[in-house]
Amino acid sequence: MVLSYENTDSQSSVFPGPVPRMLKDTVVQREASQQPSQRWPSQPVEAEPPAPAPAPARRRALIRPARAADLPAIIRLDAEVTGMAKEDYWRDQLARCVKRRGAPPLFLVATSTEAGAPLLGFVLGEVRAWEFGSEPCGWVYAIAVNPSVRQSGLGAELLEAMALRFRDRGVGKVRTMVARDDRLLLLFFRAAGMTTGPYLELAKDIGN
Ligand SMILES: CC(C)(COP(=O)(O)OP(=O)(O)OC[C@H]1O[C@@H](n2cnc3c(N)ncnc32)[C@H](O)[C@@H]1OP(=O)(O)O)[C@@H](O)C(=O)NCCC(=O)NCCS
Repeated sequence: MVLSYENTDSQSSVFPGPVPRMLKDTVVQREASQQPSQRWPSQPVEAEPPAPAPAPARRRALIRPARAADLPAIIRLDAEVTGMAKEDYWRDQLARCVKRRGAPPLFLVATSTEAGAPLLGFVLGEVRAWEFGSEPCGWVYAIAVNPSVRQSGLGAELLEAMALRFRDRGVGKVRTMVARDDRLLLLFFRAAGMTTGPYLELAKDIGN
């Protein structure tokens, strides 16, 4: 997880940029010792309610390369998530992945480990070099997790599995693009440690 610190308090304004954790901890400790009455109530406080029972652990997922038999489920999940069915696109992407020459795209799916298990999610990415002057890096083109198993870590696992394969192909950077108003994907990628990159997308209508 990436930690960031708000540089808002007066003590930290002497430090340009983010405050290192050790210094921030020091600032917080000093504040606590200067204003004890505000920090530690003199009245007894009520006991904390018992912590809720931990959620049942999600069964382990199997993450493996996509196969032709996965296509219908991939197309269905993407259509459910994006509201648009794109059969030809997914068929072409999978066909590109099985080519042996060069560095084909990487297309991974997650299923539960049971036999004949349904598709839980997928991620599509590729290592690209020098477009827009960008050094070789891994691009994540698409990621989706079945709504029934979200928020249990599967999306993060898929992204990490893709990052591992990018590393195996010799790159040390991962990039993606997200619609500005796609809060869910922004939160997800931010939680994975991704931040705004150095490139800016430009666009205009050309009348077609
Ligand atoms: C984004 C998506 C892949 C996340 O999958 P997921 O399995 O639910 O994600 P994870 O459980 O691994 O979550 C990882 C982190 O992302 C963030 N996150 C995920 N879902 C979130 C939500 N609903 N609200 C806020 N933060 C969220 C959290 O920080 C989470 O970490 P935490 O659980 O420790 O808080 C999934 O929601 C999805 O498929 N959304 C649709 C994506 C889409 O539109 N794809 C098509 C175009 S590419």
